[in-house]
Amino acid sequence: MRAIQVSEHGGPEVLRYVEVADPQAGPGQLLVRTEAIGINFIDTYIRTGRYPQAVPYVPGSEGTGVILAVGADVTDFSVGDRVAWAAGPGSYAEQVIVPAAVAIPVPEGVSPEVAASALLQGMTAHYLIESIYKPAPGEAVLVHAGAGGVGLILTQLLAGRGIRVITTVSTDDKEKLSREAGAAEVLRYEDDIAARVRELTGGVGVAAVYDGVGASTFEASLASLRVRGMLALFGGASGPVPEFDLQRLAGAGSLFVTRPTLVHYTRDRAELLWRAGDILNAIADGSLRIRIGATYPLAEAERAHRDLEGRKTTGSIVLLP
Ligand SMILES: NC(=O)c1ccc[n+]([C@@H]2O[C@H](COP(=O)([O-])OP(=O)(O)OC[C@H]3O[C@@H](n4cnc5c(N)ncnc54)[C@H](OP(=O)(O)O)[C@@H]3O)[C@@H](O)[C@H]2O)c1
Repeated sequence: MRAIQVSEHGGPEVLRYVEVADPQAGPGQLLVRTEAIGINFIDTYIRTGRYPQAVPYVPGSEGTGVILAVGADVTDFSVGDRVAWAAGPGSYAEQVIVPAAVAIPVPEGVSPEVAASALLQGMTAHYLIESIYKPAPGEAVLVHAGAGGVGLILTQLLAGRGIRVITTVSTDDKEKLSREAGAAEVLRYEDDIAARVRELTGGVGVAAVYDGVGASTFEASLASLRVRGMLALFGGASGPVPEFDLQRLAGAGSLFVTRPTLVHYTRDRAELLWRAGDILNAIADGSLRIRIGATYPLAEAERAHRDLEGRKTTGSIVLLP
């Protein structure tokens, strides 16, 4: 089969489209023919070596496809079923081995492209607002990168619950998308973000900041919080946050900071099905719209990574095998 392979860490050019051996499903596994493959920012951290990963490897962890074969002891799935997954290593490929424990049935009416781009970012938004800080209706929160994959989903889910969402974006086009998703106020990174947030909240600050941008936004995020506010630092699209003196949290208002990752919020099958089910149901009933900003042929993963890291994308992006 054809797949993208990384043989040395580096820039997008290390994503090579090559022929590799067809995989075989072992016990507890599904062999899936991919129909669409989700691209996530974490794929870039792993490619550069910022997150540890032995080479060579096939990147990607998310996708949708049709089951070609099931391992001997798999009882929940059959050949021909359509499944999606957010934790299937080696997903930038025509065929993927997906552990049955992380496979999610795709409901009728949700397209393969949408299913492939909704699960990882959607379940992330879900745990951020269900399990890290669940704002009450009327509360104000700040979401950075409001027109990104996670940003658009977070904004829609929050606004739908009556929460006042303030976002940051880099361009007019992204501002428009963020407002369409339900943002009440849209700021630019070059604004004095904390001062603007205080102005917009009567001097109080926001209850929570959902920050996937990291290095360039961290200080503004802290300074935007109300007393006992929560900073959920869930990524570092602009780079990792430098070392930080925890004592500062006391003076800044007895703040909370957490650095979560999806795997710890999908710890068992019940938790995974709860989060995935809520996201897929919201898509099916029309209350959540997944914006697929661009699709790329699998062979052009390099271009997709350049666009993602170059801040040229909006919403979710997918590879098509
Ligand atoms: N911890 C978890 O469980 C988890 C799970 C999923 C995703 N994440 C994190 O969530 C964040 C968003 O992921 P995503 O896949 O939805 O990506 P994305 O938001 O679609 O893309 C990243 C966005 O970040 C913004 N950005 C700001 N400064 C940037 C810079 N210097 N370089 C590149 N982008 C910059 C850009 O939007 P503007 O142009 O508007 O600034 C860009 O479009 C990432 O940090 C990712 O690692 C974490």
